[in-house]
Parts: sequence; C-alpha cells; structure tokens
Amino acid sequence: MEKVFIFDTTLRDGEQIPGACLNPREKLEIALQLARLKVDAIEAGFPISSPGDFDAVKGIAEKVKGPTIVALARAVREDIETAWNAIKGAEKPRIHVFLGTSDVHIQKKFGIDRDKALERGLDALKFAKSLCPDVEYSTEDASRTDPDYLARVVEQVIAAGATVVNIPDTVGYAVPQQFGKLIVFLRERVPNIDQVVLSVHCHNDLGLATANTLAAVENGARQVECTVNGLGERAGNASLEEIVMAIRTRKDYFNFSTSVNTREIMRTSNLVSRLMGMTVQANKAIVGANAFAHSSGIHQDGILKDRATYEIIRPEDLGIAKHAMILTARSGRHALRDKTSSMGYDLNEDEFEAVYKGFLSLADKKKRVYDEDVDIIIQDVIFAHLLNNRLYSLESYKVHTGNGKTPEATVRLRREEVILEASSQGGGPIDAIFKAIDKIVGAFHKLEDFQVRAVTETKEAMGVATVRVSRDDFRALGRGSSTDILEASAKAYVEAINRISCFMQHQSEACQSGNKLTPQN
Ligand code: KIV
Ligand code: ZN
Repeated sequence: MEKVFIFDTTLRDGEQIPGACLNPREKLEIALQLARLKVDAIEAGFPISSPGDFDAVKGIAEKVKGPTIVALARAVREDIETAWNAIKGAEKPRIHVFLGTSDVHIQKKFGIDRDKALERGLDALKFAKSLCPDVEYSTEDASRTDPDYLARVVEQVIAAGATVVNIPDTVGYAVPQQFGKLIVFLRERVPNIDQVVLSVHCHNDLGLATANTLAAVENGARQVECTVNGLGERAGNASLEEIVMAIRTRKDYFNFSTSVNTREIMRTSNLVSRLMGMTVQANKAIVGANAFAHSSGIHQDGILKDRATYEIIRPEDLGIAKHAMILTARSGRHALRDKTSSMGYDLNEDEFEAVYKGFLSLADKKKRVYDEDVDIIIQDVIFAHLLNNRLYSLESYKVHTGNGKTPEATVRLRREEVILEASSQGGGPIDAIFKAIDKIVGAFHKLEDFQVRAVTETKEAMGVATVRVSRDDFRALGRGSSTDILEASAKAYVEAINRISCFMQHQSEACQSGNKLTPQN
C-alpha cells in the first residue's frame, strides 16, 4: 500500500482562528502529542509573526523528535531567515514558503504581474534552499489560479529545488471532482512533477475540505495538510481525524496507508480542544461526543446483536477508553499518572509531584475529581514559572439578583495576604461579577468568549467555565470549575486576568493578539 504523508498544521493554520492563543509551553505539549500520534510533519508556526511564536517553534524544533518540523514564511528574505533560525535545531527541519498565484492575489495583494510574482517566488525559494535542504513551496489560492500559469510555477519551483509542492484551496472554493482533475492536470502537464511530493491543503468554507483532500489523494497527491478537530482559518481546515480514518476505514477503496497511530486520536483531539478552548461539536465526525452514541431503539437493538450493523469504526481504535478511571481521595499516584498521560500531558517528576499535591488537597474537599479539575491543576503547575507571582485568587462572591432587578455583585479577591473587595452592577449576574473583578484589578478586560459547560449528567453537574479576555494587545484563556456556575465563571475570569498580567511581564512568552501577523497580512 502506498503511503500518504500527514502534515499537521494545527499549531499554525489552526492557531489562526480568532481568539486562539497558545503560549510556547502549550504549543510544545500539543507538538509532543502530535509526535505520539505519529504525524509525518508538524507545522509548528509562523516565526516572524511574533517573538512568542518564534520561541514556540524553536522550542518544538529542539525538543520534538520524529516528525519533520516545519516553519512558515512569506516569500520574503526576513521571514525565511527567521523561520530558519527557529527550526535549524530540529532533527528534520523544513522551511515552508508561500506566495499567491491567482490573479486576485498577484494583482490586488501585491500589485504586480504574473512574471514578477514568479520571479519573487523563485528568489525566495532559492534563498530558503541555501539554508535548508527541505523546502516546501505553496502556490497560495491555487484552486482559483489559471491552470497554465499554475503549471508553469510548479515546474519552475521544482527546477529551483523545492522538495514538496503544495496546492492549496485557500478559500475553500474547490469541489472534489474538479480539484481531483487539477491534480491530474498538474501530473500530466508538469514534466518534473515526479521529483517532489505533491501536497494539498484544503479549507472548509463549503464543508468540502475532507472530500477535496481525498479526491486529491485518489488523483496523485501524497501529502495532505490538515488540523486536529478541523480547526483553522474561518471555517477551518481539512480535519486530520476524518482523513486518516477515511483512508483506514475504506482501505478497500483507497488502498493507501498513513503512519498515524489512530489510538492517539481521541487524546489528541481532547488536548487540542482543552488548550485552545475550542469545544468540539457533539456531532463532529470521528471525535464528537455523539460520534458513537446510538439513541434510536432500532439502532441500539442492532448494535447489541452485532456492532457491525451500525458501527463502521471501533471506538477503541481511536483510543476511546471503555472504562473511565474515576479519581477520588483514595486514588494513588499510579491512577493519577494514568489520568494525566491519558489527557495527553507529558509531565516531568517534579511537575507530577506538584500536580499530585494539588490533587490530594482537592480530593479532600470533593467526592470526585473530574478531568477538568485535573486539567486546571496541571495548568497551574506547568505555568508555575509564569504564575509564580500569581496575583489574585477568588475568596468569595455574593450576588443579589432576581426578576426585574439589576444584578449586583460583591467580590473578594486575595492578593498575597491582602483581601480586596469591590461591588458592581451588571447586565446579568456574571457581568456584575466580572465588572467587580475589573474594579479590584483596576483594569478593563474585553470579554472575547465565554462558555459554560456541564461535565457530568447529575443534578449537581460540575460546570466548567472558559473565558477568553483581552487587555491592550494581550489575551488569555482562563478556566474554572465548580458545581456553582457563577463561582466557575469568577474563577475562570480571575485565572485569565492572572495570565494576562504575567504575559505582560514576560513579553516573550506572551500571546500577543494585536500585532501578531497572520499569513494573510
Ligand atoms: O490556506 C493557505 O493557502 C495557507 C498557505 C499558507 C499554505 O494556509
Ligand atoms: Zn490555510
């Protein structure tokens, strides 16, 4: 069976989603998990975009072994040099240069003509090649490019030394048959096409990213660019888990293989969802909460008689545990270690001991410790170097509210030994709490996203609140859990504010929103 190479761009295109914001340690955790998933290449970031992204890519290049580590660069010398400086410590580095080939990109974005654009692309490629033997070239917006011009660009970048040529459907405009034909056309028209790995990169604006990717594979593409949970710019990218499981489940049809260890899919999906604060929709193919839930009586009856009646994938093959480990005060180190690794974290001994201590003190107060609790303890521990001057913690809150009343909250926060208190009214109880917290902190925070989710199904359901806030050019994610959703929200808000304050002090670790470049700039 021929192999299809899996190029994961969760940490680059996936991280371009509005509000996503991973710091270098979070990016490293995801990259380590992608290596366990056994993807062939990890696009770790766009190093010119911010000092934080440069540091993140460099850290991944130095620490993650196995996959090729890729850094993105526009067809600009400074970008390419910065990309190379970030990845040169990798076992297998690759520079990924991209430049638009459609007339709309060439004329409207760059204000030049096709020949000039080609010359610019070739110069950039040659410069990248002088630094790194493995260079990928992307013909951005290829699906809306004149095919003859596209073929000319592809032929010349191969002659100039590209090792991978990527054909992106940047705006998700293609349809499967047509996209498949484009790949056939390039293979027939470009005489040196066999000297490179032909790649595709599909966006999901029409919901066709996975279908377009598979059509390209059937017609000769041998690298696919994709993201975990389909995250990415606008409607997202082709989803890694969908492509891998389609190729595996329908190997009778495709007759291809990938090197992905599918048993790591669920763990990877959960880790990405938690760290990026992006909940996976319940009916998402492969990794959604309902992907293996059978509710109709007829289906349940069929499944009980023979799973093959209504199930084409075995949940075990994705690493979905049959027996969830329940953590209580009686759980020991072994069970906790099992839990932290099943959540995708790679903790060293000191970090694990600190998490264990946090777990014991929480388990003393609660009957059951949930994954979300463990996650919050881990976050505290692994970011301890940033949060060692943890500024605020929630002491208590009170809210007066009711029908027809303006909610009023009084919040008490602890800052080292000092208790600070403020009250505020708000549009709702949560708004009042957040405003009171802002008063204590003495700064206004813009709430960019706020979600509350129940994590258990009993009446005393644990609520997990996730907030994303920004102040000036900085933004951060905070999470809090409690059986009381107001308390969970307050904790999450305080956590996000602590992170922002720390990021502001440690600028290079920061996730800066305002001045962060995206490849579209
Ligand atoms: O969508 C796109 O064209 C891209 C390129 C940078 C490969 O993300
Ligand atoms: Zn893209």
